[in-house]
Amino acid sequence: MRILVTGGAGFIGSNFLNMLVPRYPAHSFVALDKLTYAGNPLSVADLEGAKNFALEVGDIADADTVARVFDQHRPDVVVHFAAETHVDRSIVDPTEFVRTNVVGTLQLLNACKTRWKGEGPRRFHHVSTDEVYGSLGDDDPAFTEDTRYDPSSPYAASKASSDHLVRAFHRTYGLPITVTNCSNNYGPRQAPEKLIPLTILNALDGRELPVYGTGRNCRDWLYVEDHCEAVWAVIERGVPGRTYNVGGGEERRNIDLVRTIGQLVAEETGRPEAEILGLIRFVEDRPGHDWRYAVDSSKLRAELGWAPRVELPAALRRTLRWYMSNPAWVESMRGGEHDRWMEKNYEGRQQLGSAAGTHHGRTER
Ligand code: NAD
Ligand code: TYD
Repeated sequence: MRILVTGGAGFIGSNFLNMLVPRYPAHSFVALDKLTYAGNPLSVADLEGAKNFALEVGDIADADTVARVFDQHRPDVVVHFAAETHVDRSIVDPTEFVRTNVVGTLQLLNACKTRWKGEGPRRFHHVSTDEVYGSLGDDDPAFTEDTRYDPSSPYAASKASSDHLVRAFHRTYGLPITVTNCSNNYGPRQAPEKLIPLTILNALDGRELPVYGTGRNCRDWLYVEDHCEAVWAVIERGVPGRTYNVGGGEERRNIDLVRTIGQLVAEETGRPEAEILGLIRFVEDRPGHDWRYAVDSSKLRAELGWAPRVELPAALRRTLRWYMSNPAWVESMRGGEHDRWMEKNYEGRQQLGSAAGTHHGRTER
């Protein structure tokens, strides 16, 4: 198979490639990536020299670029990871989210539709998020594939829009698509502005650990390699036209997760736990902050036999060790755009309290 992986230099895309390129020498893999702040050629540097891998730098929202890459590499499978992904950035400015996530997805679908007529088995696999389903209350059942779409953030709305386009291309043109909607991922090579790497790196550097609102918002965490195995299982054995939810079943409140990371950092560095946990600061909440995500993956488990292989505490320690032993990668993600974002997102945020318990709270759902 010739496999085009969009967003292949980003967090999940690069983990997907680092896992599958060596495993399948008979398949060829091409990463198409614009190398935004979240994309890093170092994330696929271990694949340099592999005969079955190439990196193309380009924009999925540009029809000419997409046409050139399709004509040159003639993919039979597209695994579509490329997206603008940070909810907080989408709140500051949704424009790029619509351009990349909606228009970019459309350009890829158009390219497949015009080139895949009457040829052998093909697949457009769209990687999406559980955030399209909106927010759960504490006692609500987990999201299933039938849960109504109800996106809260511009990011989630743009992903919802792209999901609809992908399914419409199946119904209208018969394009062989599959979709996965996944919960929050963690692991190596995630941009340092997302909660887990931010907390790890700030704790290691002795900087404040910002927690939005009460910290009681809840996320369902999945180790990135378990997500990549799910995507591959769906590409290999999933039914065209179908959607599969992917979740780790590891629900944690943000504050508990941040404390766990602080404890792990203390263990791994020998620094006092109290000193690290004392860095926690409750800060002004994210507008429209979804309260809770939880994903029911029973369809994927029953149909394709997938299950997560690792558990959060062990995989979180593995993730921490990866960030500790890859300072060159970390440094290459910092500076410039990263620093501008950190200043923009945190400087204006009102501080609500510290871990000591001075937090004033906010109405919970
Ligand atoms: P990421 O932000 O780490 O990486 C996105 C990659 O896409 C980057 O390499 C970036 O350079 C590239 N990109 C952005 N705009 C582009 C454009 N116009 N053209 C080409 N490349 C472009 O994201 P991620 O966390 O790896 O997420 C990958 C996919 O998985 C996304 O579609 C996201 O919605 C989905 N997803 C992510 C999570 C998560 O927790 N990270 C959970 C569920 C679903
Ligand atoms: P994030 O990693 O941005 O993922 P998402 O918003 O897609 O779930 O954030 C995970 C959770 O952590 C989310 O509830 C927001 C919260 N959060 C903080 O409390 N502090 C922070 O500095 C960041 C970036 C996120």
